[in-house]
Amino acid sequence: MYKIAVLPGDGIGPEVISQAVMVLEAVSRRFGLPLEMREGLAGGAALEATGSALPQETRDLVMNSQAILFGAMGGPRWDKDPRMAGGSLLIMRKTLGLFANLRPVRLYPALENASTIKKEVVSGTDILVVRENTGGLYFGEKRMEEGEDGPRAIDTMVYSRGEVERVARLSFDLARRRRKKLTSVDKANVLLCSRLWREVVDEVSRDYPDVELNHLYVDNCAMQLVRAPRQFDVIVTENTFGDILSDEAAMVTGSLGMLPSASIGGKIGLYEPVHGSAPDIAGEDRANPIAAILSAALMLRYSFSLEDGASEIEAAVGRVLDRGYRTADIMEEGCRLVGTREMGRLIAEEIYPSGE
Ligand code: IPM
Ligand code: MG
Repeated sequence: MYKIAVLPGDGIGPEVISQAVMVLEAVSRRFGLPLEMREGLAGGAALEATGSALPQETRDLVMNSQAILFGAMGGPRWDKDPRMAGGSLLIMRKTLGLFANLRPVRLYPALENASTIKKEVVSGTDILVVRENTGGLYFGEKRMEEGEDGPRAIDTMVYSRGEVERVARLSFDLARRRRKKLTSVDKANVLLCSRLWREVVDEVSRDYPDVELNHLYVDNCAMQLVRAPRQFDVIVTENTFGDILSDEAAMVTGSLGMLPSASIGGKIGLYEPVHGSAPDIAGEDRANPIAAILSAALMLRYSFSLEDGASEIEAAVGRVLDRGYRTADIMEEGCRLVGTREMGRLIAEEIYPSGE
């Protein structure tokens, strides 16, 4: 039995996650997989009901599962509430030991015109961004002080050899299963953390002579991503650089609505669309469910090693796009506009026709 905690959360979270669940049910029927999915409260709704964005009941559900399918947290009502969005997401990453955040950026051929960047430049892009997820500035010591001219804020970037080594190793392993090219991104001309990063990545690379390694400074990488994205296979970088570069890389595909993510490294993996709660379009059947659906595919691949199911979902998404169906965020002339539910249904039908 594969046990999955489903946490739809806020905003468009529930509508996109219910489509991902439907697609998982189709995969389960097609391949005869015993998937057990249980829903829990998280985010604003949970906060209103229990005073916590991650109530104990949800924590228990998570601890009894092998993977979490997560929608999104947050909205204008809770913007100033420190118990919300960022806070609880970071707590989940840290307490579950999810030290690597994988964000695959793959341009589906049908969407070559959806990018704001020229088709000749983006066509064929297929990048896996691996972001270190539990260290660096996000989790270093922080404090406020009284300075000479008023308050002074201090954040610290901290990395240990072990933290760099495990994410480097994972990235080399992933590159080995792809096009065998790894780009490590740092700021070694300025930061001590980056010098240690580079040293450790070089050391680990000796165990992977079949993987080609190169190093880029983060500013150069930001530029190369929009100049020539096809040069990249796997990119590995520290937490803050990864946060920024993965959003940038995402736009190569045209819409944040297409991007899934996987946080792995612990016993329980966390899978979520990159797009967030988008409260402005919540409940209107307009959101693109593909990021959530592709996150479910990543869950099958990385938590359960069900490669057949994962690639079937990815292929089904490609076929539905090839047939010209689009949600509003990726709509083009000559294509057929569909809502959240219809997009989900089309993808599920590709995987396991219901025979209506
Ligand atoms: C992300 C988000 C989060 C992050 C925020 C919501 C704290 O931007 O997952 O990339 O910075 O990690
Ligand atoms: Mg981010």
